[in-house]
Amino acid sequence: MAPRAHPTVTYEAPPNIALVKYWGVRDRALALPYNSSISVTLDRLRSRTTVRFDPDLEEDHVVLNGRPAAPGPRDGVVRFLDRVRALAEVSDRASVRSANNFPTASGLASSASGFAALAGAASFAAGLSLSDRELSRLARFGSGSACRSVFGGFVEWRAGTRPDGRDCYARSIGAPDHWPQLVDLVLLVRGAPVKEVRSADAMQSTVRTSDYFAERQRELPIRIRRIRAAIGARDSDRLFPLVMEECDSFRRVCETTRPTLDYLTGTSRAILSEVRELNRQAGRPIAAYTHDAGAHVHVFTLQRHLARVRAGLRDLAGVERTLVVRPGPGGRNVSTGRTPVRPRGRAGRTRAPAARDRSRR
Ligand code: DP6
Repeated sequence: MAPRAHPTVTYEAPPNIALVKYWGVRDRALALPYNSSISVTLDRLRSRTTVRFDPDLEEDHVVLNGRPAAPGPRDGVVRFLDRVRALAEVSDRASVRSANNFPTASGLASSASGFAALAGAASFAAGLSLSDRELSRLARFGSGSACRSVFGGFVEWRAGTRPDGRDCYARSIGAPDHWPQLVDLVLLVRGAPVKEVRSADAMQSTVRTSDYFAERQRELPIRIRRIRAAIGARDSDRLFPLVMEECDSFRRVCETTRPTLDYLTGTSRAILSEVRELNRQAGRPIAAYTHDAGAHVHVFTLQRHLARVRAGLRDLAGVERTLVVRPGPGGRNVSTGRTPVRPRGRAGRTRAPAARDRSRR
């Protein structure tokens, strides 16, 4: 039988920053989290991934940011491709090229954008035509947070309660243009240590050892409801204190992990203090800090406070660069020319990639 010809597909996906953190896996095989999480998908920053399944290849070729991938990241990509091959009933090896338009080692959630982009490119290249929700479910097997990067704007990843995970999925809770005033200053901290342990592993040592983990789980449902409501109402007076409360809770669950997890540098801590001071001086919350498992800090503010917040943060030593980003669109197929991929499945469930692009832009 002649080998099946596969299309070359390029898919782009953005990173996201969590306002409510995913930290703890309740089922590794199904990639189910303990708690729901909420994030903002960021504009301007992108992972761009091109995949082609090729019957002439003897093994998968993986190039990340212009270089052959190191064994660790390569294994992650190959495992993910194996999942796609099983789903699509394809046995060919693939060539994968992926690059970020932001510094990869910077700790800027490149695994979220990277695996969302890989899920999109590999699944379409293998002949699957997944809906956004299906794509998001697939992406989370590469990196949990990647399931949120498929969608734009404000995104909730619902943990669900079913053991089979059918009620665990990510969904949009606010379009990218829902809150045009909202700005995220990403403060890149000089000398940020490179992460040695993947978050996926670090969070499991938290589950095992932190004496605050169970209490955090009890706190989260109410905080999530409040954060969702504050986003819905575009109410920064309510949202900003909740975002910082959640970030402090995340830091506490890391600090109570044994051995302790400390991702911040002195500069990161100085940024948190400065944001508290700015709010104190303003007499109301004009900014909110948050950070992931890394030293860089995201500072949310509103466009009308931007100059004041930037001025307050300008003189902090140790900040290498500040990126100004906003909520942006989710992942999209950017293959040029006539795409051989056609939507399959029930009407309304699966959309053509090109149609999706137009609705998002
Ligand atoms: C702190 O799912 O991104 O960013 O792929 O190992 O990096 P890795 O795990 P990932 O963990 C995310 C942890 C977090 C919180 C969040 O994004 O919700």
